[in-house]
Amino acid sequence: MNSFQFHNPTRLIFGKGQLTALKTEIPKYGSKVLLVYGGGSIKRNGLYDQVIDQLKEIGVEITELPGVEPNPRLSTVHHGVDLCKTKGVELILAVGGGSVLDCAKAIAAGAKYDGDMWDFAERKAVPQAALPLGTVLTMAATGSEMNGNSVITNEATEEKLGWGSPLVYPVFSILDPENTYTLPKDQTVYGIVDIMSHVFEHYFHKETNTLLQDEFCEGLLRTVIETAPKLVEDLESFDHRETILLCGTMALNGVLNMGLKGDWATHNIEHAVSAVYDIPHGGGLAILFPSWMSHNLHHDVARFKRLAVKVFDVDPSGKSDQQVAEEGIAALRSFWSSIGAPSRLADYDIDGSKLEVMADKAMRFGAFGNFAKLEKEDVLAIYQRSL
Ligand code: NZQ
Ligand code: ZN
Repeated sequence: MNSFQFHNPTRLIFGKGQLTALKTEIPKYGSKVLLVYGGGSIKRNGLYDQVIDQLKEIGVEITELPGVEPNPRLSTVHHGVDLCKTKGVELILAVGGGSVLDCAKAIAAGAKYDGDMWDFAERKAVPQAALPLGTVLTMAATGSEMNGNSVITNEATEEKLGWGSPLVYPVFSILDPENTYTLPKDQTVYGIVDIMSHVFEHYFHKETNTLLQDEFCEGLLRTVIETAPKLVEDLESFDHRETILLCGTMALNGVLNMGLKGDWATHNIEHAVSAVYDIPHGGGLAILFPSWMSHNLHHDVARFKRLAVKVFDVDPSGKSDQQVAEEGIAALRSFWSSIGAPSRLADYDIDGSKLEVMADKAMRFGAFGNFAKLEKEDVLAIYQRSL
């Protein structure tokens, strides 16, 4: 493995009833809070009122930014930055899923920057400071609650770009499985696909002697595969929500990343699709990841075989490595279909008319992928397989 440093500064506050931690955490950072949330789910399920009650008890001054979109927009970030600057905000509190958290990260860095936050996404500037950010997570998926990443859509240019900074790790994140009970089945499935995809992005790497990291990945995948079918049949099961919530955090908080460089091409390919068609991230991944796997199988058949045997219980006896590996990819497809994930771009009414546009967007920073370097023709081939 590579040499590495690991530092994750987020205080993870996990479990039933942990919302009261707001009262001890927030005063550490200030008394003027920007409360960022999405399109209304927290008002419908009562979490908004609970948060406001906690904030009132400690007498903080609250400014609200509601309406963060799934696939959060740059214009919403700009609005939040203006609010921070005019109201003298000292801490941002994001309550919602990955989109709300990512938007809040962009606001946190944008509020301390004189230019346009989009400069960070375009790699024209690096954040030098950020407001502290606390989060209350309502959806298991992105891992944004314990990482320094954010993905923002510039609606004017139809671009969706990821960026990151150690300065925007949440200072605390509160994860109560009960706050995810009202997440509908389709979004629950998208979250599950996203979590598994984050593990795959780590699992497909080129380092040697990564036995523990590989076992972590396989264990996490097996846990999700065992739990997900039960959760989609019982959306208010505390135990299953709790398991998936922890899996989501562990899949993208840096632990799986120690000493290796994951691939991450499929995320880039998916973001280009979401930029043009505004589809849910997890839905896009369910369609594209198996196609990426089939396209790149030849780079390391042994690794795909290992995945098939250790995670999908494929019996290797009497079969070639190639056959076992292909059976593993087929098993992934059928697992995702069995829990209700989409499997073709056509499921979102996406035809072949914009494949070039999407491929050009994916190629914005040149060839990509650390396990298998993709050129534009590879990206097009993966889209073609996914139609
Ligand atoms: O907006 P509201 O009304 O809150 O509704 C949301 C939204 O419609 C709803 N929802 C969330 N929690 C709920 C709930 N509805 C009922 N009850 C609850 N408890 O779910 C919908 C989707 O929410 P969203 O935040 O968009 O989903 P997710 O967490 O999957 O975030 C997706 C975004 O994160 C980015 C994606 O690209 C996408 O833009 N990613 C961020 C990453 C990161 N920061 O590390 C990594 C990921 O790979 C990903 O790219
Ligand atoms: Zn993802």
